[in-house]
Amino acid sequence: MSDENSTRLDALIRSPFARLATLLEGIKPGAEPINLSLGEPRASLPPFLGPILEEHLNAFGRYPPIKGIPALRQSIAKWLSRRYPALQDAIDPERHVLPLNGSREGLFSAVFPACARKPGIGEPVVLIPNPFYQVYAAAAGAAGATPMFLTAGPETGFLPDLNAIDEAVLNRTVALYLCSPSNPEGAVASPDYLAKAIQLARRHDFLLFADECYSEIYGDEPPPGAIEIAESQTRSLANVVAFQSLSKRSGLPGLRSGFAAGDPAFMGAYFRFRNVACPQVPLPLQHVSAAAWADEAHVEEARGLYRANFDSADVILNGRYGFRRPAGSFFLWLNMAGFGGGEAAATTLWKGCGVKVLPGAYLTHAQPDGANPGQDFIRVALVHDAETTREALGRIVATLG
Ligand SMILES: Cc1ncc(COP(=O)(O)O)c(C=O)c1O
Repeated sequence: MSDENSTRLDALIRSPFARLATLLEGIKPGAEPINLSLGEPRASLPPFLGPILEEHLNAFGRYPPIKGIPALRQSIAKWLSRRYPALQDAIDPERHVLPLNGSREGLFSAVFPACARKPGIGEPVVLIPNPFYQVYAAAAGAAGATPMFLTAGPETGFLPDLNAIDEAVLNRTVALYLCSPSNPEGAVASPDYLAKAIQLARRHDFLLFADECYSEIYGDEPPPGAIEIAESQTRSLANVVAFQSLSKRSGLPGLRSGFAAGDPAFMGAYFRFRNVACPQVPLPLQHVSAAAWADEAHVEEARGLYRANFDSADVILNGRYGFRRPAGSFFLWLNMAGFGGGEAAATTLWKGCGVKVLPGAYLTHAQPDGANPGQDFIRVALVHDAETTREALGRIVATLG
């Protein structure tokens, strides 16, 4: 890689956690540390997975097929049909589904075939909500596309304003990443919003990459899915791919298992690309994953834990810091404008009470006018057990007031 390339990429992608480590370097925590900076579920592992792993241990001795074993693709297709009844007869495990080694690598690698399917447009554009999950920008940068950041602040319900994108930009767009429920704000795209995004993708022939890894962590209503809306409203999955994961749904971030599902034409190209360029899911882990997608009891149990944590936040934060209970995900997105902004507040909390949170600006990109939609915010992950979460939230209020 040339220096020029690495400079461009380095400017685009800086690990939020590396930046946080630098921010807090040399500062002693004010109490026994509690880490609320990382979106890593802490629920106990679903107990039925161990024996399945053991049963298939010998399969570590074989190369896994990139397409996944039929049992996994079928389990994923069944889950999609259960979760989104509109997809009942629409998902063919052969044509619509590919397993991923965690959704992150899928969100990264999908940009390459997305660029390849739209040649001759000049420099391709990848549309990215702002705040955003860092891999979207890494993918755009690595593929030589221009990342264009779409502000997703309170004024637009924490989702990008799809009506505000320039026609000329849309014509050069190869992909729009949409995260719903969104990380970090927990905003959920409505069916109308998703329909509009699908319409735009089709009119300008780009891919809608729907990052839905938080879809199973919600308050009252299960969030709609992009391929569900595409199928129910248009009887077609064209131009839409959903990315899913067992990391958040099943509390298995270390398993590295997810899937992509959607547009059969794109999935064909994506399969051919993945077959030479991407990591397979190890065979024993494919068996474990098939079992995890087939079970909902452990997911409902985890949802109960997250709901209890949000109940604690309701009571303990009591409307402070612009707190609103998000429609989905397990994050709080708290406004620290009154405490010197996100970085200052993160430092104060670490120093004052040992609570580690992530400055919002580490998840955002400065807009062309210099404004940064994350500057005033911190992200707080409510992934611990109820007692630890209550303790941490209590410390935050005691320290900030
Ligand atoms: C918005 C978002 N998308 C995707 C991922 C990737 O998750 P995984 O690779 O574990 O499936 C994460 C992980 O934190 C995330 O926050």
